[in-house]
Amino acid sequence: MNFQEPKQLSEMARKIEPYQYQIIEKKFSNLLSSINDDSDRDKAVLRIHSYLHEGLSEERIFSMFTGQSFPLPHCLAFASGKGGVGKSMLSVNTAVFFSKIGKRVLLFDADYGLSNAHIYLNFRTKKSLLDFFLSGDPEDAVEKISSRLDYIHTGSGELKLVDMDEYEFTRIRKMLMTIARRYDVIIMDCSPGIGKDVIQTLLVGTQSIMVTTPQVSSITDTYALIKVLCQARMHPRVNVVVNMARSVQEADQAFQRISLCTERFLKLPVEYLGNLFYSSKISQSLNERTPVIEMYPLDTRSGARIIQLAQNLFSRIKKDTQKEVQRDVFNR
Ligand SMILES: Nc1ncnc2c1ncn2[C@@H]1O[C@H](COP(=O)(O)OP(=O)(O)OP(=O)(O)O)[C@@H](O)[C@H]1O
Ligand SMILES: [Mg+2]
Repeated sequence: MNFQEPKQLSEMARKIEPYQYQIIEKKFSNLLSSINDDSDRDKAVLRIHSYLHEGLSEERIFSMFTGQSFPLPHCLAFASGKGGVGKSMLSVNTAVFFSKIGKRVLLFDADYGLSNAHIYLNFRTKKSLLDFFLSGDPEDAVEKISSRLDYIHTGSGELKLVDMDEYEFTRIRKMLMTIARRYDVIIMDCSPGIGKDVIQTLLVGTQSIMVTTPQVSSITDTYALIKVLCQARMHPRVNVVVNMARSVQEADQAFQRISLCTERFLKLPVEYLGNLFYSSKISQSLNERTPVIEMYPLDTRSGARIIQLAQNLFSRIKKDTQKEVQRDVFNR
């Protein structure tokens, strides 16, 4: 056994407990061994301590100390022209999937004033974006759902969050920027339609995922949303999921219709992420308040299919170079 006498800490280093100092020295010995000056070493330990406190992963702290480019998270925004097409269900399950494969995830419920993604996770919220608006401290809005999954609730039935102005959207963007480095992925669940809150959210996203059903009205509204997005920014990266399809052909045709229109009229190619059939197991999982990928992970019409869609998305974002992410996120 190796009981070490706690180190006599300098004035500066006494800001943390001796045992915390020792743990950091041990975990980050590779980094700290190259620092000879005691006071520089204390400074580095304190910095690591505050990063850990902030929730940064060890991997990320290493990359920051070794001067590697700052890894910003991928921001994935789920949106739709029509309501009730499965955005929240897909956002939640995708967030759970990413956290299960070891990514640090923030689920940001961008359905301001009607925020309900937590219901899919049987999570009782205690905070909301309003708390952040009052205090200016992001910690007042972030809640931990599981070890690698955090959540920001944006209020339920809150008038103040219904019609926000440019100033408030800028505050939200800056808040996300402050906490972004804790995460590998930020997933945003938009409200339906083409309102300014949706456009603001999609502008932050590095990839947007448009969810549609095969219904003509849903396809038309999806096209309208992509068109508005094109008007707001030059080259959006758009993925499409066709949900609640009755057959592969029906889903493929729906995608083809959207793709033909965006290429012809907007000169914008869109990617097909895949389809999902209508399944009673999906609504059942919502009644049970358990993500369907946990409840039916092997069912090819629900859980297993959603895992496959999330894997497709994962392969797609892996192709985004860090440079592109740096350029895209929060810089608009
Ligand atoms: N493939 C599916 N099969 C069966 N039910 C589904 C499927 N996809 C979603 N649902 C159900 O449809 C309902 C609406 O889903 P969800 O809340 O995810 O939609 P939404 O697009 O987020 O809605 P809103 O626009 O109101 O935010 C939920 O009850 C959900 O369980
Ligand atoms: Mg929703």
